[in-house]
Amino acid sequence: MAYSAAHLTQAAPVNEEGAALAAETDAVILVGGKGTRLRPLTNNVPKPMLPAAGLPFLQHLLGRIKAAGMQHVVLGTSFKAEVFERYFGDGSDWGLEIEYVVEDEPLGTGGAIRNVHDHLRFDRAMIFNGDVLGGTDLGAILQTHVSQNADVTLHLLRVPDPRAFGCVPTDQEGRVTAFLEKTEDPPTDQINAGSYVFNRDVLEAIPAGRPVSVEREVFPELLETGKRVFGHVDQAYWRDMGTPADFVRGSSDLVRGIAPSPLLEGMHGEALVDSSASVADGALVLGGTVVGRGAEIRGGARVDTSVIFDGVHIEAGATVERCVIAAGARIGARAHLTDCVVGEGAVVGARCELRDGARVWPGVEIPDGGLRFSSDV
Ligand code: GTP
Repeated sequence: MAYSAAHLTQAAPVNEEGAALAAETDAVILVGGKGTRLRPLTNNVPKPMLPAAGLPFLQHLLGRIKAAGMQHVVLGTSFKAEVFERYFGDGSDWGLEIEYVVEDEPLGTGGAIRNVHDHLRFDRAMIFNGDVLGGTDLGAILQTHVSQNADVTLHLLRVPDPRAFGCVPTDQEGRVTAFLEKTEDPPTDQINAGSYVFNRDVLEAIPAGRPVSVEREVFPELLETGKRVFGHVDQAYWRDMGTPADFVRGSSDLVRGIAPSPLLEGMHGEALVDSSASVADGALVLGGTVVGRGAEIRGGARVDTSVIFDGVHIEAGATVERCVIAAGARIGARAHLTDCVVGEGAVVGARCELRDGARVWPGVEIPDGGLRFSSDV
């Protein structure tokens, strides 16, 4: 897509007091997971580098980090570690200072946080799960952390249905009282949103050299030992981009401006089509769909709420809804795809019908009329 590094460097701080705190805070992003739920898209590309609204997803997060006023970023990498450094380098093109810490074996979320300790410059670090698309005011989380004199502050999100998440209740002062596993009857609607502020001494006390889960081991232990653990509660935009359904929704929300990204200001619309792509008259591209470089969408095709990577061909009369179609794939004439992932270079033949979470592996060719779920196509 035709964006440049300038989009990152133009981002302005959103909150002056928060920005002053952010200038003395390291940003640590965990990007070492294998992203198994997004396979086959993540067979060769780490999840945070998949393009959402035309840019590697991680770039939107870096834009928010920079806009909040943080300068120094440490990426905790493991799976496909080299891909990050090749793209972001030392961060100077983006107005940031980026360092990389590679785990030979994944250390889990807590182990990864501990593992970056000797790269930190400040007494405070803000930790991010690299797969969360969020809209919260990062400076405000730092303000809560400082005003509560906390050891650790978690961003907590209020959601209408918390049953699918671990819940984190707080007392009247905002102090965390428990970390609860998923339950049918949660006592609070606050969930862990995957961003935390850690004082450096607390981060350095995480056990080193072995896998540790921050959610299951570090946080409960902090409560047991009486540390000051607080919640910063809000209802900002939030989406974990870990599944295909969330990934297409998150990308579409970015395109339509429902999810904020400093990199897309003034560019919102029904679709984001790269200038080198071609969309025939009579084709419909809508719902926050992204169409990548050199892609071709033929007449009568309808592409809704989808992510179409570079070089994809969608033939006449095909419909593609809530799908991710990876680079170079071809969708045949009058094929119908809903809620699918099609891997790189795969071919879905004419008149095929794929739906409900179907995943076509890279390079696989389904012949014309070769797969359908019903008899009416
Ligand atoms: P799934 O395999 O689909 O569950 O995805 P995942 O491997 O990314 O796991 P999950 O979504 O639970 O991870 C949350 C965040 O932590 C993601 O940004 C991961 O990249 C990151 N992460 C998970 N495990 C590790 C790890 O062992 N090391 C590092 N550095 N990051 C990790």
